[in-house]
This record gives sequence, C-alpha cells and structure tokens, in this order.
Amino acid sequence: MRHGKIIAALSAAALALAGLAGCGSGEPTTPSTDAPVDGPSGQLEIFSWWTAGSEANGLEALVGVLGEKYPNIEFVNNGAATGGGSGKDVLQTRMAGGQPPDSFQVHAGAEAQDYITAGQLQDVSNLYDEFGLNNAFPQDLVDLLTKDGKIYTIPSNVHRSNVIWADVKALEKAGLSTTDAYYDSMESFIAALETAKAAGFEAPLSMGMTWTQVHLLETVLMADLTPVQYNGLFDGTTDWTGAEVKKALEDFGKLMSYTNADRDSLDWEEALAIALDQKAVFNVMGDWVPGALDARNLVDGTDYLWAPSPGTDGVYGFLADSFGLTTGGPNPDAGKAWLDVISSADGQTAFNKVKGSIPARTDIDLSSFSDYQQSASKSFKNDVIVGSIQHGAAATIAQGNAVNAAVSKFTTSPMAEANLATLQAELAAAFA
Ligand code: GAL
Repeated sequence: MRHGKIIAALSAAALALAGLAGCGSGEPTTPSTDAPVDGPSGQLEIFSWWTAGSEANGLEALVGVLGEKYPNIEFVNNGAATGGGSGKDVLQTRMAGGQPPDSFQVHAGAEAQDYITAGQLQDVSNLYDEFGLNNAFPQDLVDLLTKDGKIYTIPSNVHRSNVIWADVKALEKAGLSTTDAYYDSMESFIAALETAKAAGFEAPLSMGMTWTQVHLLETVLMADLTPVQYNGLFDGTTDWTGAEVKKALEDFGKLMSYTNADRDSLDWEEALAIALDQKAVFNVMGDWVPGALDARNLVDGTDYLWAPSPGTDGVYGFLADSFGLTTGGPNPDAGKAWLDVISSADGQTAFNKVKGSIPARTDIDLSSFSDYQQSASKSFKNDVIVGSIQHGAAATIAQGNAVNAAVSKFTTSPMAEANLATLQAELAAAFA
C-alpha cells in the first residue's frame, strides 16, 4: 500500500528508484559453471575502490571467477584507497587526461548519467543481448544506467545505505538492552547515546572520514523528511533551506557530537572496528558491513545486531554498483570479458556472498545467502525506495563533492548554531 501511494507522488527520476525492486522477472536459477574459453588475453585494468578489507575480498571472489573463465587475462585494479567512491577524482583526472582504464566502478543513477553525458562510457546495449541480460535485472535499475534508449553499464549488486549496527557486548557495557526501540526516532536514539555516554562511552557512535559523515547525514535526512520530501530534494520540489532540513541538520550535529575525535583519519571499516572493539556501541553504515563482520567470524544476533538506521524503518536507502566499458580503454576485449563475468550468475553469486550486498540479477536463488541478505532483499522489494546521496544514486558527482566539502567544513569546525546555518546554505547551493 505504502509503495503505491508514494510512487504517485514522485518525480520521474525518483519514480525510477521507487519502482526499482518490483520489476524483476525470471525464476530462480542455480548458477551454471562456465567452462574456460580461449578468449582475450593481456591486461585488464579496472578502477574500483574495493581495495581494502572485506571489499577487497569480495573483488577477489569475482576475480576468481574471471580467472576460471578467462585464464589468459591479467587482472589489475588501479583503484582508490578509500571507500564510498571518495577517491574517484583520481579516475576523473585520468580520464580527462586521455588515460582511461578498461572498466570502472560507477554508481547507478545520477553518477552514471554524469559519465554517460561526458562521453566516457560506451553504449553496451549489445552486450545485454549477447550475454542474455535483457530480463536479468529490475527494469527500473537498468533505466538508471540508460540514456536515450542506450544502456551504458551493467549492475553487479544492490546495497542499502540506511543501516545501524550495534555490538552486543558494547550494548551490555553501556547498560542498554538489545531492543530495537532506540531506533524508533532520532530522539530515542539520542537518548540511548546519552545512556551510553553516562556509562563511560566517550564517543558511543563510531565515525570515520568525511564521506562516512555524509553517509550519516543522508540517513538523518531520510529519517526527518518523508520519502516524498527526501526525493524532492533532488528535483527542486523540497526546499533545502526549509524547516525539515534544518531539523535534520540539527540532529546530524547532535549525532556528530557523540562521535570519536579521530574520525577524519578513518575509513568505514576502521570506524566500524571501534564499535566491534567495544570502544563505541553503534555504527551507521551501508550493508557492506556484513562482509567485515563475516571476516571477523562475528554472528548476527549473538555478536552484533542491526536495524534500519534511526527513524527510517520502512525506507530503503538505495545504491547499486555497476561497470561499463570506457571510451578509448586499452583492452576492450578484456573489458568485455569483465562485464561478462560481473553480469553472470556465477560472478554475482561469488561476489555478493562475500560483499554483503544482494545480487542485481533477480534470477539468483538467495537461499544459501545470509539471513541478513535475505532480509535486505525483502526490504528492497517491500520498502519505499529513496536514493543515496553519497553513493551517487540521487546526487551527481558535482553535487556529491559540494556536499562533502560543506559537511567537512562543518564537522572540522566547532559545531555551533552559526555553522549549521552555513551548512544548510551550502547544501542548498549544491542542489540549486
Ligand atoms: C559504496 C559502494 C559499495 C561499497 C561502499 C564502501 O560507494 O557502492 O559497494 O564499496 O562504497 O566502500
């Protein structure tokens, strides 16, 4: 019910996001094992920020499938060292200088449209025919990768941004029970942070560098604005200078005051580790977190708990990764092989099992995936979908950069009322 009502009120771009999960077709299939083919050889160079920890493990699983099917390709990831797409300016500099890799990681939505408009991606619609992908993905997801009827990238996975993770031992230390009630609203969550603080946690909400702060901010916007208002931030129908955004920024400022002072030097996995080491209680981060939890052999429900981030129950903060072929990349045959593997049921199964995301393909049987992933897949189908800002679904690259600059300025100066007003004005300017 909720889904239908919301769709009616959304803009065209937001509509594509809102309808995302509903359009998968195919029946579940068991992935087939592809036999090696002689295929292309030489180096395949990609750009991805899956370079550390659990994300590197996910990429490695995918590269394993590549090696089985295309044994003559030498895989190289000359990617960014930091997560969340925060290092993609390196890629842009390279492409502007005429030195593109063969393929690169790109978020579905506004970010993909930027690269398409810049002429940096090739039309790969023919590969959808060749690899049999025309019914493999939700049509609304493919629409986010399409311009003027041509499809430019192939999605590998779908992630949810608005998730909170809590360490069970830390909850106990903080005198907090394992109830989900803290997450009902921003107010109840802030009360829980106060309780943890009184119990000796100096910074109960663990936090990392600027992009993770922007990530937190988008989840607070999702909490304090209705989905229609949130989606309206990107098509001009919601005023960034309005009272709802002001309240969200105040809440963001309050949450930041419960975070660790060394945050700007930490990427997401290091920030998460603070909670897992019981030096904080909570971490708000996308669902690439399960990959890191699995790598530590931590058990869902015993060692950690998760829930939609405070105030966002029923809302799914959407983002998806995809890959395409660059214009002028050195080894297009190898690039094509990469897209074959990424889009295959084998590739999507191997990768997503490690990464924590759900496959972008709708024909993969999830029964051997984790409970978290099965539940995320249900939420993707049933919740109201809104697009991530940090992860390029709703915001263009320029808008994302401007948001990062404004948030960094705010969180590195004493977070006073006056600075909140500046933050709001700068965010409004970013989307003007
Ligand atoms: C996102 C990306 C995810 C994950 C995350 C953390 O931008 O879409 O797949 O890599 O960053 O680095």
